[in-house]
Amino acid sequence: MIYFEKENQTFYLESKNVSYVFCVQNLGFLNHLYYGKRIPREDLSFSVFTKDRGHGANLPNSGRRESLDIYHNECPTFGRSDYRESMLAFCDHLGVRVVDLKYVGHEIINQKPKLKGMPSLRGGQTLIVKLKDERMGAIVALHYTVYENLPVITRHIEVFNESENAFSLDRAFSFCIDYPDKEWETITLPGAHLRERVMDRNKLIHGTFTADSNRGVSSSQMNPFLALVRKDTNENQGDAYGFNLVYSGNFAFKAHVGQNEEVRVVGGLNDYDFSWEVKPNEKFVAPEVVMVYSDEGFGGMSRAFHDLYRDYLINDRFVKKTRPIVINNWEATYFDFDTEKLCKIIDSVAGTGIDTFVLDDGWFGVRNHDRSGLGDWFVNLNKLPQGLTPIIRHAHKNGLKFGLWFEPEMVNGDSDLYRAHPDWVIHADGIEACVGRDQYVLDLTRKEVCDYIVNSVSKILKENEIDYVKWDMNRPLTENYSAWLGKNSKEFSHRYVLGLYDICERIVNGFPNVFFEGCASGGCRFDPAMLYYFPQIWTSDDSDAYMRTFIQYGTSLCYPVSAQSCHVSVCPNHQCGRVTPFQTRADIAHLGATGYELDTSKLEQNELGEIKKQVEQYKAMEDLVLHGDLYRLNNPLQENLFAEMLVSKDKTRAILTVMRPLCKPNGERSKVYLKGLDENTVYNVAELDLTKTGATLMRVGLNIGFPMGDFQTKTFTITKVS
Ligand code: GLA
Repeated sequence: MIYFEKENQTFYLESKNVSYVFCVQNLGFLNHLYYGKRIPREDLSFSVFTKDRGHGANLPNSGRRESLDIYHNECPTFGRSDYRESMLAFCDHLGVRVVDLKYVGHEIINQKPKLKGMPSLRGGQTLIVKLKDERMGAIVALHYTVYENLPVITRHIEVFNESENAFSLDRAFSFCIDYPDKEWETITLPGAHLRERVMDRNKLIHGTFTADSNRGVSSSQMNPFLALVRKDTNENQGDAYGFNLVYSGNFAFKAHVGQNEEVRVVGGLNDYDFSWEVKPNEKFVAPEVVMVYSDEGFGGMSRAFHDLYRDYLINDRFVKKTRPIVINNWEATYFDFDTEKLCKIIDSVAGTGIDTFVLDDGWFGVRNHDRSGLGDWFVNLNKLPQGLTPIIRHAHKNGLKFGLWFEPEMVNGDSDLYRAHPDWVIHADGIEACVGRDQYVLDLTRKEVCDYIVNSVSKILKENEIDYVKWDMNRPLTENYSAWLGKNSKEFSHRYVLGLYDICERIVNGFPNVFFEGCASGGCRFDPAMLYYFPQIWTSDDSDAYMRTFIQYGTSLCYPVSAQSCHVSVCPNHQCGRVTPFQTRADIAHLGATGYELDTSKLEQNELGEIKKQVEQYKAMEDLVLHGDLYRLNNPLQENLFAEMLVSKDKTRAILTVMRPLCKPNGERSKVYLKGLDENTVYNVAELDLTKTGATLMRVGLNIGFPMGDFQTKTFTITKVS
């Protein structure tokens, strides 16, 4: 609930177990007072620290005490005695960059309005506080949404121009939090293509720590996620504040430690390569940031993110429903396929439980390799002379649904589309545009380009019985410019993302029964905004089971396992040459939305039998993948063991998956302490024929006996007995 105490002009925002408190200070700015574990609604003015510091500056007519550099501020701006990271930066038509934002009013509404042009979370009581700069005519509306059943608050801002002149926003972050000390460590998810979201932990030091992307996509190099944790925070206990931006383009989170020996965290749209002209009577909307607080360590934080995204973000037509179990032909055939080869793959999986055949890259244009064809969304009749129909029919005859790959945002130089519209690619006249994987990015800031994409993709979806789409995006942005923007070219990157949301909105909503999976060279655009459109995302092009333990572990810090698409592929693995047991690959892929990606037509009958068994195993645990609570037990980055549990909400069922990467003769004991069970409930561990209380399983733990060999896994089914 949200409360406003008139007497002390204080706002109290209360989500489950969380309080967030700030007040209107008598000079009119918003003074942040507290964010953390729930406390009673009391007057917190005693906690404000306003000592004057030497060589500082004070607000006019405020005596020596009122320096904004000392105050905790909900919405700090440039040029008014606060030298820490600001949240907003303005510039008016005269070049004046200083604003004096003062409180002018607020409202509390019971249902959060949808953000304009951008994905956002559903539901939640919302507080909108308005600040105004009289001189510039800028009104900043700070939005806060609370979730009563989760320890979550979301924030975003909207900036309205009520003057007669345009002004520009050179920074438009979505939030600012001042913490009253500096003893914090950061958790981020950096990485690279094939090595996405590997958890990283660092101590904050004086200066500014930045986690960001400037690639035009949310990126595999750094996910739009930052957490602040205490030195002793671990999986099970300790303070963890997680921030995740609902955005798919350039972002930045900054954590600044300054002279006050405190931390300020700000974040939102990356102000690198950003400036936005707000014309008279226009409004700029910044993306939403999700803020989770947990005193149950990373585990509690992650489970809150997972529940939030499953209940309030991801398309509720699909999020909690059985997911397609796909056989995807990419690693099976790459570009080298014909109708017969594809039908053989379909034949081979019939009866295994795999229920969807996905035809990946190479079915369109003249696309026999990755140097041509993108943009030409019509069937490659040289390769598939009778079109898609015989393959779709064959899939249906064998009880499989049909899925198709697109990369809608791209075009190859060698394509009909490029020959017809060379100016549709992102470029600046006079400079030859960079290529990535031999392709250009289409200029989604232009309506006619977006319309072409929507129409050409929709045509294929209308003319064929397609149940599933894999939406790919395989290179970052360069030459960020579009001629129509002229001097406002710093709006380009954000406008690209708005164009992307526009085409996603039109295509995804235009085909409400089609299941969409996101992808960007694997997991290069794995963010909450993409999850709004695509209930699951191909987690990584790296399908090696061992590498996947790091990648899936890190990804699960803020994204539910059901959002992670995970495939069983062939060995030696195509990305790193590693050989892992078939069952291991399945066990790790089962910790997500599972599927297959190998040439099943080349497998022996007994191997197809293995697949059937694996799919049955997955089906038996699928409800835990879709609805369960995730507990990470052992971190493969820190020890020779990976273990995760999925536990049903009512704690009557659980599945435990353990991998021992390296077999060492007389090596360490593989001990796993279970988590998330009810202490007093008696459980049976089927595979060990062991019946014990939850307390014993969690405190005494299990010794896992692995067979000889590297990369062995074991799974355990845990069921309530009484
Ligand atoms: C990307 C995807 C792969 C596959 C290829 C096709 O790399 O991540 O899964 O679809 O493109 O070109």
